[in-house]
Amino acid sequence: MTESLSRGAEIAVIGAAGKTGAAVVAALEGLADVRRVVHTARRPGDFAVDLETGTGLDEALSGCRGVYVIAPNVHPDEPAIVRRVLAAAADTGVEHVVYHSVAWPYTPAMPHHVDKAVCEDLLRTSGLRWTVLQPCAYAENFGAVLDGSASTVELPYSPDATFSFVRLADVAEVAARVLLEGLDIHHGATYELGGPEALSVRDLCDRSGGPVSVKQVSVDKWMSRHGRNLTDDGRARLAAMFEFYDRYGFLAGGALLESLLGRPPTPAM
Ligand SMILES: NC(=O)c1ccc[n+]([C@@H]2O[C@H](COP(=O)([O-])OP(=O)(O)OC[C@H]3O[C@@H](n4cnc5c(N)ncnc54)[C@H](OP(=O)(O)O)[C@@H]3O)[C@@H](O)[C@H]2O)c1
Repeated sequence: MTESLSRGAEIAVIGAAGKTGAAVVAALEGLADVRRVVHTARRPGDFAVDLETGTGLDEALSGCRGVYVIAPNVHPDEPAIVRRVLAAAADTGVEHVVYHSVAWPYTPAMPHHVDKAVCEDLLRTSGLRWTVLQPCAYAENFGAVLDGSASTVELPYSPDATFSFVRLADVAEVAARVLLEGLDIHHGATYELGGPEALSVRDLCDRSGGPVSVKQVSVDKWMSRHGRNLTDDGRARLAAMFEFYDRYGFLAGGALLESLLGRPPTPAM
């Protein structure tokens, strides 16, 4: 990153223990003082909060200049979490709230996307200064294909559906830039972050080092193997997403990603 990034008061990353949170913390570290905010009793972090009640949020955000907000994947009530975070940000005088949304947030067939559309509205009408990032699907969702360790991939949607897969480290670098480059540039902005090309999961498998077979299985079969730890609500939200992917894929523009990075984005594969 460039020299123009400004150091200042701490940045809090809410949801720092997850896949996205770890990537954003890694992108920020060395450039800013980072508070890793995690959910009570789930993982170690600098500040443990209870996102279901808001307990601990004021303490976690107090003295922070900026906060990056990542909600748990397919949470049953993401807007309630974001409301609590926004209230704490207002109470504690946080200057800049950056919300990790998703591309195509207003997609009625995908309830967890619609929740993110609601959260974006909460942010824009909060009176706080804000930025929204809308990443497409991460290439890292197929990490075993990326690192060459997969021999088969079972998918609950068409292997030929196309996605603008984006590399998580690129998204995290944009998050760090937005938090550190300053409000003058990024307040009021919504950035759709697609990867550089439209690819199917079959394309990813074909480009992988070894032979990887890809086959479509029913959503029920996929859930019985991979969704056992999810709640019924979480399974329903994911199933709706898989049905949508099967019919429409999931594309997003890549021009903003390149512009924000100041370099070509990393290829998905
Ligand atoms: N994956 C993608 O392609 C993609 C694309 C765009 C946007 N997003 C969004 O990015 C966000 C993070 O996704 P991710 O894949 O990084 O998630 P993740 O790795 O599953 O991390 C989620 C974090 O939330 C915690 N968590 C889970 N359920 C919780 C609950 N009920 N209460 C409190 N904490 C809970 C988890 O704790 P434990 O680790 O202790 O379980 C984990 O630290 C989501 O909002 C997702 O919609 C993802």
